Amino acid sequence: MTDALRLAVPKGRLMKQTLRTLAASGVVDSGAVDPGRRLVVRVDGADAVLGRPLELLLLKNADVPTYVEHGVAEVGVCGTDVLDESDANVWRPHTFDFGSCRIAIAARAGTTAADLRARPTLRIATKYTRTAARWFAGRGQAVDLVKLNGSVELGAVLGLADAIVDLVETGRTLVENDLEVVEVIGQTQVKLIANRSLGRAQAAAVDRMVAALAGPGTEAP
Ligand code: PRP
Repeated sequence: MTDALRLAVPKGRLMKQTLRTLAASGVVDSGAVDPGRRLVVRVDGADAVLGRPLELLLLKNADVPTYVEHGVAEVGVCGTDVLDESDANVWRPHTFDFGSCRIAIAARAGTTAADLRARPTLRIATKYTRTAARWFAGRGQAVDLVKLNGSVELGAVLGLADAIVDLVETGRTLVENDLEVVEVIGQTQVKLIANRSLGRAQAAAVDRMVAALAGPGTEAP
């Protein structure tokens, strides 16, 4: 057993931005750690603010809500793109000011929204099948969804699908693969999520983290 508060974080970009934000909020000492190949990493400095040490669990994006819902991690960092695809019942006490992305339909350069609307059955490749299904159902268009787990752009480049539904942050991946946004269908945010059945001590540590992230002068929830 550990006395630490556990924070589930996706490996990669969001982990770095999370650590920078936790350091800027005074929750941890440094905005940088080198986990090497470790998947559980203790970060220095959290005792003073949280009353407990902090451990990061380094996971794949889609697994963060699962670890938090099951209480293996008390808290997690997760995009609404992932939460919208998950059935996990978690609390969302804070929205981070980094990592917001557009979620868009994209296709080979020159494709218009009218071109896609005219297809009797549009084939869409995406990681976000629920989000895509909901959006096209709202528009009353039949779609054939092809689930991919990464490098989604290739689905449109190689003709696996007519178009993709994917996150667009800088737009660079689309440009470098001769694709372009046809229609923006949403905007994602990065949330701090928390387990809904925390014990008193764990809940107090989470409240302190949320208050520190919200900034000075803000009451704990
Ligand atoms: C995401 C997304 C796009 C890319 C967009 O992929 O699925 O592919 O980032 O970023 P950009 O607009 O700044 O180019 P991610 O890097 O998470 O990798 P993935 O291919 O494994 O989904």
